[in-house]
Amino acid sequence: MPTPLMIGLAGLGTVGGGMLKLLDTNRALIERRAGRPIRVVAVSARDRHRARDVDLSPYQWTDDAAALAARDDLGAVVELIGGADGPALVIARETLGRGTPLITANKAMLAHHGMELAALAEARGAALKYEAAVAGGVPVIKALREGAAANRVARVQGILNGTCNYILSAMESEGVSFDRALAAAQGRGFAEADPSFDVDGTDAAHKLAILAALAFGTRLDFGAVRIEGIRRVTAADISEAAALGYRVRLVGQAEAGPVGLFQRVAPCLVPLGHPLAHATGATNAVAVEGSHLGRLLLQGAGAGEGPTASAVVADLIDVARGEAGPAFAMPSDQLAVLAAADAGARRGRAYLRFTVADRPGVLAEITAATRDAGVSIASLIQRGAGPDGAVTLVMVTHAGEERCVADALRRLAGSAGLLKEPMLMRILGE
Ligand SMILES: NC(=O)c1ccc[n+]([C@@H]2O[C@H](COP(=O)([O-])OP(=O)(O)OC[C@H]3O[C@@H](n4cnc5c(N)ncnc54)[C@H](OP(=O)(O)O)[C@@H]3O)[C@@H](O)[C@H]2O)c1
Repeated sequence: MPTPLMIGLAGLGTVGGGMLKLLDTNRALIERRAGRPIRVVAVSARDRHRARDVDLSPYQWTDDAAALAARDDLGAVVELIGGADGPALVIARETLGRGTPLITANKAMLAHHGMELAALAEARGAALKYEAAVAGGVPVIKALREGAAANRVARVQGILNGTCNYILSAMESEGVSFDRALAAAQGRGFAEADPSFDVDGTDAAHKLAILAALAFGTRLDFGAVRIEGIRRVTAADISEAAALGYRVRLVGQAEAGPVGLFQRVAPCLVPLGHPLAHATGATNAVAVEGSHLGRLLLQGAGAGEGPTASAVVADLIDVARGEAGPAFAMPSDQLAVLAAADAGARRGRAYLRFTVADRPGVLAEITAATRDAGVSIASLIQRGAGPDGAVTLVMVTHAGEERCVADALRRLAGSAGLLKEPMLMRILGE
């Protein structure tokens, strides 16, 4: 009889509860694949008396989650509490520091402390596994770490936040405002009561920074991710984009090259010919461009009990098999340090929406600013004055350096003709 892998589980919420259920439901299959039994021995959460839809009686209860990390009878600790710091980080440091494998779904902790934890894991010879931290059930970490390991990866693009994608898809299909779509997402459990982390782009940025490190073999640099959220996207932007042949998506983009490491999360116009345009609802999708494999697309459920638990248990199976290897696919001291690339030098097309006063001279002021900044206009659409007397101007530029568009907007800042801050979204290439 092979030795069972003994597990401590910290966190019994959506993912922790889902993991227990999945281990129970597919036990025989999982153990055949793992090559040995996987036994959850001890669990911990905040509130012992909370009603849960899993039976905890087979497990030892531990009041202090950090105590799990200090046990020497466990073959792995699974951290499913969340949060960049606090108890999750204490558990991660203690677990890896003792040479015990750690499995986590915690993208916030990895984005902020991933390099430290990876180095600690290597120094102690312990596995650090985090498949569930990016794109939930979609096995993008394994795809980059293993399947694409022979490739030089030039670019990663992804829809990495299901909440934002749900909101943008609802705005598109139902023609509703951001606020209405957000309320609907909250009502259906796709958005938190405080949605800031999702809609302001932070969550997607955490995941992008992790993917970039893995894809390019660079040190994880969350601080260098440029982040724009989706709060300012209007139903009108979405219908204008649709009329032009695009869908609006919150896209995480990372590229590495001679000019440095570029990482940005921002709402973009995605052409219908691009695979990311077809991820709807709470779906996540990641496109990877490899030197030899070409474009790889992974798409699926980015969150939720079942898909996320599926990723956590896949990591458990790896640990049970004794698969370790460096967390970011190469020893952390060999990850390259790349400076942040200058976004201004990037070339691309842009979508601009201006809300302006309905009076002579305003259009001339805008076109003068774009001309003086060297922005070449491909199309300009004017929508008649609404009940508030405001006119909407939608401009699409020819490909040019991003710094030129930024310069045009700077020239217009403070103009009395502009009734609202202009909206800028970049247009993704095919
Ligand atoms: N939910 C998803 O779809 C999803 C997808 C991908 C990744 N993730 C990541 O997975 C992790 C867990 O997410 P979740 O959605 O399962 O969260 P959750 O439902 O809020 O559950 C969090 C769990 O942690 C416990 N907890 C909180 N503070 C604690 C403390 N100080 N000591 C011990 N336990 C504590 C809670 O205890 P009580 O139950 O007693 O309150 C709860 O059981 C996070 O890192 C998240 O980012 C989640």
